[in-house]
Amino acid sequence: MKLVRLLANLGYGSRKQVAWMFREGRVTDAAGEVLYADDRVGHDDIRVDGEPLDPPQGLALLLHKPAGYTCSNKDTGRLVYDLLPPRFRLRAPALSSVGRLDRDTSGLLLFTDDGQLLHRIISPKAGLPKVYEATLATPLRGDEAALFASGAMLLEAEATPLKPAVLEVLAPTRARLIITEGRYHQVRRMFAAVGNHVEALHRSRVGGLSLGDLGEGQWRRLDAADLDAVFA
Ligand code: URA
Repeated sequence: MKLVRLLANLGYGSRKQVAWMFREGRVTDAAGEVLYADDRVGHDDIRVDGEPLDPPQGLALLLHKPAGYTCSNKDTGRLVYDLLPPRFRLRAPALSSVGRLDRDTSGLLLFTDDGQLLHRIISPKAGLPKVYEATLATPLRGDEAALFASGAMLLEAEATPLKPAVLEVLAPTRARLIITEGRYHQVRRMFAAVGNHVEALHRSRVGGLSLGDLGEGQWRRLDAADLDAVFA
């Protein structure tokens, strides 16, 4: 791929803007030699203003989403993309979140520009476990775990029962819930269906991948071992 297109696809600017960056000599090789818009050079050998190029296509990353950020790139207000480098929002193919977390949910959120990977993670067939910790408005009644595990629970206005889910009681108003589907507002609606209300919700794991020591609002790239962990 010609360099001008590569840089435009990575969000460095429109083709016109990127063409100017070449004219200005801002794009060089690792040794500092000025590169030209129609050169073809290996990704690792390219520098913009002396800095290595952003990661190539095939990017996957993990964000520790704070509550209060929306999983959208259009909404007004705080967006999860505000927590990533601004160029990442302009990449082609687009960097999308893998499923969504509600604005008021915190925790593990994946992003990728690889459509196949995205599909493998969210596919109902994969049935990857997603682990949530919920803080509830009122103490658990005691019958929730059996109902959630039954495989017969219906959410309001839905005709297909939920797949069995595992509830672990952590405290009278704290529970861990492991689900393998991703229905709209699923966790909040499950607790609403048993007469409760989720006051705070946090996702701590998707498949075998956890947040580790990643702080709130921080992100990191996923490597092959992380992706293996997702599907482990
Ligand atoms: N279930 C919810 O209710 N909200 C989320 O953000 C994720 C799962």
